[in-house]
Amino acid sequence: MRAARAAGRIHLKRLSRIHVNRKSNSIDLVTEADQESEAAIIEVIHRAFPTHAILGEETGPSRHESDHRWIVDPLDGTTNFAHGYPQFCVSIAYEHKGRVMFGVVYDALKRETFVAQRGHGARLNGRPIRVSNCDFLSSALLQTGFPYDRRERRRFYLAFWEAFMMCVQGVRRTGAAALDLCCVASGRVDGFWEFGLKPWDVAAGSLIIEEARGRISNMDGSPLDLEGANILASNGKLHQQMIDVIAEARPEAERRHAAMLAEAEAHSRSEPQRLAARGS
Ligand code: IPD
Ligand code: CA
Ligand code: CA
Repeated sequence: MRAARAAGRIHLKRLSRIHVNRKSNSIDLVTEADQESEAAIIEVIHRAFPTHAILGEETGPSRHESDHRWIVDPLDGTTNFAHGYPQFCVSIAYEHKGRVMFGVVYDALKRETFVAQRGHGARLNGRPIRVSNCDFLSSALLQTGFPYDRRERRRFYLAFWEAFMMCVQGVRRTGAAALDLCCVASGRVDGFWEFGLKPWDVAAGSLIIEEARGRISNMDGSPLDLEGANILASNGKLHQQMIDVIAEARPEAERRHAAMLAEAEAHSRSEPQRLAARGS
């Protein structure tokens, strides 16, 4: 909690003077706030638990192994942060022997702290939270997100959005996966799906959902694998319905992606001929 608050202070301090760099591509951003807040979190954890391992988004895994591991997203929602859009947070999970035991997601701007300790429930600012009671997708509000290869795989991802659009009341994309999971946990939305997530996006939120009596799994319903990337979370009642929509949409998503690649390939083959013809 102390580490999360330290990160939150840095978010607020840096918000008015943001300096943005690019990571894997032109839409994968990193700011000084990402790096400074990760350093602050690591310092707090190391001082309290010098032998524990840490997996941080910005610094990677620590060199030594330990039964005790902290999984840290120092700033989830960097694109929002970089634009001053008020939806970002810090996410920290503590794992013992591969099992998440504690999770905190802190939104400094809204002053919202979501926490869960295994077996002790989930809380928002000290008050117990629970997932929604929604029984049917036809009355559900869902959230989703898109990973940083979204330009290359846009048609694949959008096919699932389209499929859900046809059967729910609304789909939101707010840009901070850890907060999306907390929205499911607190009943603000009824379900969430996303491809390509990383352990630091999901670890803390997964426990917060479970402790709020929701369900989180891989997209095919198999037990959650933090490294597995394709995540489905819900109030439990909607879980199978969401699995079914995703399974049904997948062949069409793959077909559209393959068609897009074929179009791009055909275009790149015809381009030199077109240029040559124009030159002659
Ligand atoms: C991103 C956000 C976003 C999600 C992306 C994540 P970052 O994390 O959680 O909502 O759609 O897949 O990578 O880069 O802002 O920490
Ligand atoms: Ca993240
Ligand atoms: Ca991040």
